[in-house]
Amino acid sequence: MLAIRCNKYGPPSSLAIEELPSLVPGPKEVVVQVKACSINFPDTLITQGLYQIKPELPFTPGSDFSGTIKKIGKEITNFVIGEEVFGFVPFGALAEEVIVSVSTCFPKPRNMNFPIAASFMMAYGTSYHALKDRGQLEEGQTLLVLGASGGVGLAAVELGTLMGAKVIAAASSDEKLALCRKYGAQLTINYKKEDLKSRIKELTENKGVDLIYDPVGGEFSEAAFRGIAWKGKYLVVGFAAGSIPKIPLNLPLLKGASIVGVFWGGFAMKNPKENMKNTLSLMQWYNDGNLKPHIHKTYKLEETSKALEEMIARKVKGKVIVQIN
Ligand SMILES: NC(=O)c1ccc[n+]([C@@H]2O[C@H](COP(=O)([O-])OP(=O)(O)OC[C@H]3O[C@@H](n4cnc5c(N)ncnc54)[C@H](OP(=O)(O)O)[C@@H]3O)[C@@H](O)[C@H]2O)c1
Repeated sequence: MLAIRCNKYGPPSSLAIEELPSLVPGPKEVVVQVKACSINFPDTLITQGLYQIKPELPFTPGSDFSGTIKKIGKEITNFVIGEEVFGFVPFGALAEEVIVSVSTCFPKPRNMNFPIAASFMMAYGTSYHALKDRGQLEEGQTLLVLGASGGVGLAAVELGTLMGAKVIAAASSDEKLALCRKYGAQLTINYKKEDLKSRIKELTENKGVDLIYDPVGGEFSEAAFRGIAWKGKYLVVGFAAGSIPKIPLNLPLLKGASIVGVFWGGFAMKNPKENMKNTLSLMQWYNDGNLKPHIHKTYKLEETSKALEEMIARKVKGKVIVQIN
């Protein structure tokens, strides 16, 4: 089977495509014939050795997949060969085959095609866990989403709207913000042109925002935090800008505010039942036509490095997909 291989940590151009032996599942695992794998920001980090998980070299990157069950472990009773599934793995899915633990593999809804299914789990799983479990978002609250047109950001805009929040989308271009409006954002901030903190105050009549969803980090985090409402919550989701911000602790004190960490992968591993409940709610929303994953572009397996480069260059809106024949 063909697989993308990271033989040494480095830029996307250093990845190779190689022929490997077909995979064999453990007793509680399945082997999935991968049809599509979406790219997430952590894929750009893990291949450069910059992520919190550093797989032993060489390894195959890729987390968010869809496909069909090809082989089944001895103890598996809930899947059959040929069944259409989607799910996630820490790495290994940018290949024709991937080994998956059954706790992170789900039957694919019939009305969801393979690219959409591959784009679903990480973006919506992270944002729903963040807004519902960590942020306890309530109807009528204001939600500020930074990096709002990115993979997890756009899902947060869509889910926040669905959960009854007034969403303020913040991103680096008017084109990106136009897409966020289509996904439900009522107000927007172009943080390349506008001062984030003063625009938040203007848009909320000086009250500030109740919940902040931050997958960007860097210079915007403190500016956003300074626009938080009394007793607001600040969700730490990621650091796409590259630097981990240091927030002065007088700021949460003065606002009676909370800084709340979000680690969806850890949550899904430690609380598989809760994660399954969330996944079922998300699938119901999809089936009811309430969620519409945005596919930016589709690449072939051998073009994986281009997909990663596009994400690093900040050009992706929504999700980018690698399709595998
Ligand atoms: N905590 C969790 O459980 C969890 C789960 C999944 C992902 N994440 C994290 O969430 C972040 C976003 O992931 P994603 O897959 O949604 O990525 P993405 O689609 O690339 O979105 C990231 C957004 O960040 C903004 N950005 C600002 N500075 C950037 C820079 N220097 N390089 C790239 N993007 C920059 C971009 O929007 P603008 O151009 O509009 O600024 C971009 O749309 C990552 O840090 C990832 O590790 C966390």
